[in-house]
Amino acid sequence: MPLRCELNGMVYAVFVMGDRYYVISDTCTHGPGSLSEGYVDGCEVECPFHQGRFDIVTGAVRSAPCTVPVRTWTAHVVDGCIEIDPDEVRRTS
Ligand code: FES
Repeated sequence: MPLRCELNGMVYAVFVMGDRYYVISDTCTHGPGSLSEGYVDGCEVECPFHQGRFDIVTGAVRSAPCTVPVRTWTAHVVDGCIEIDPDEVRRTS
């Protein structure tokens, strides 16, 4: 089950797969869907609004109606906490 995390006005969705954590924007790029409330299937998350899908690792679109990748950040585990650099340069998907 993904975790919804709000910090400094930004809402993130945090996923764990195996022993790694992944952080993406909680807001779907197609509309107001909350990806932390989405269905997780392997490394994909399905938006609960219109069932568009994104790759949790890269943010790439995996299914319509989404056409724009979702923002991702690199998760670092520091002293048992998950940290990101909110200003991290966006990776291409
Ligand atoms: S709002 Fe997410 S697929 Fe439409």
